[in-house]
Amino acid sequence: MKAVILVGGLGTRLRPLTCNTPKPMIPLVNQPFIEMMLLRLRDQGIDEVILAVQYLADHFRAILGDGSRLGLKLHTVEEPEPRGTAGAVKNVEDLLDSTTFVFNGDVMTDLDLQAMLAFHREKGSALTISLTPVDDPTQFGLVETDSSDQIKRFLEKPRVEDITTNMINAGTYIIEPEVFKYVPPAQHYMFERGLFPVLLQTGDPMFGYPSRAYWTDIGKPQTYLDVHHDILIGKVHYTFRGQQIADRVWLEDGAEIHPSAQIVGPVVLGRGVVIERNARIIGPTVIGARCTIGSDVRIEGSVLWEDNQIAEGTLLHSCVLGNGNHIGERNHITDGAIIGDQCSIGAENRLERGIRLWPKTVLNDKAISF
Ligand code: GDD
Ligand code: MG
Repeated sequence: MKAVILVGGLGTRLRPLTCNTPKPMIPLVNQPFIEMMLLRLRDQGIDEVILAVQYLADHFRAILGDGSRLGLKLHTVEEPEPRGTAGAVKNVEDLLDSTTFVFNGDVMTDLDLQAMLAFHREKGSALTISLTPVDDPTQFGLVETDSSDQIKRFLEKPRVEDITTNMINAGTYIIEPEVFKYVPPAQHYMFERGLFPVLLQTGDPMFGYPSRAYWTDIGKPQTYLDVHHDILIGKVHYTFRGQQIADRVWLEDGAEIHPSAQIVGPVVLGRGVVIERNARIIGPTVIGARCTIGSDVRIEGSVLWEDNQIAEGTLLHSCVLGNGNHIGERNHITDGAIIGDQCSIGAENRLERGIRLWPKTVLNDKAISF
């Protein structure tokens, strides 16, 4: 079974984390998100995947290769210019021969793909859209269905007054290849504002597959932290890598942990992490490979990528650190703060309330002070 994953977006909402790392490559529990997604697809019977990228194709090829390391066949296809969601699939139509899954590349879900496929076949559907309930549909594609699950209306980013249901497009589709006859070649064309409304006109059978599977769009800073939280507390089906060294504490390989340090799970520690005297790491927290956590540091509810050095007495709470930052002594970095890559922060700064530091930012001691 084949699948196309749409990974063309720029990930602007996740900046500065996406300044140096394309959105599908940002780590989720110390593993590139796309890699985790590919393994999930493989485990659910998909053996060939086409990544529809818009830029940085070489970056994807360098990390994922031909997919053999992950146990599937992978093609990375770069569009000549942004073709939109449906145009991107049209662009790889030659590689498709039968019923195909299509995925938005920024969705974390444990949806049962085989159950969705059985539904698609049972209904005789030409195009099936997975649906999930949300509190606020205005950021998504609203989907109205009838009592037999046939789609009656699709409204992308509805206005509040147009909301008639809380069911939205969850970004997983099953598509019969004939449907692509409606997509104009070599043009920018969207599923959401183009093909779906067209299918409602032509009357081709289009069904919505409602599901209560775990679902979230990872493309926003708060949801990025929330997804980590949900994985670590076991709200989503997830297989942890590495070895479990204590109650809900996983260690990926070789770490130095001072005997006086306190680690309260759920916590994942990457390869070669060093944790010094009296440091306290409180879950849900993920610490990337080769980070050094100084003495009396306290980290809670945070995600650190690789190669960060945190000096004595600093507090990290509900924040995200990219790669290779040097954080001085006794800083308070809290409340959704996001630090890009290779920043250098002096001592005793207070960074909070969603502050974002661009890569390579340099802050002196007490520059943003208590
Ligand atoms: N290759 C390629 N080319 N990919 C693209 C392009 C393109 O021109 N444009 C967007 N994508 C990819 C993005 O990288 C992302 O993985 C996916 O298509 C959806 O684009 P987003 O920009 O993330 O859209 P959204 O989140 O605002 O809305 C979409 O997803 C919602 C669910 O998360 C829509 O499909 C909504 O209807 C849906 O509810
Ligand atoms: Mg999205």
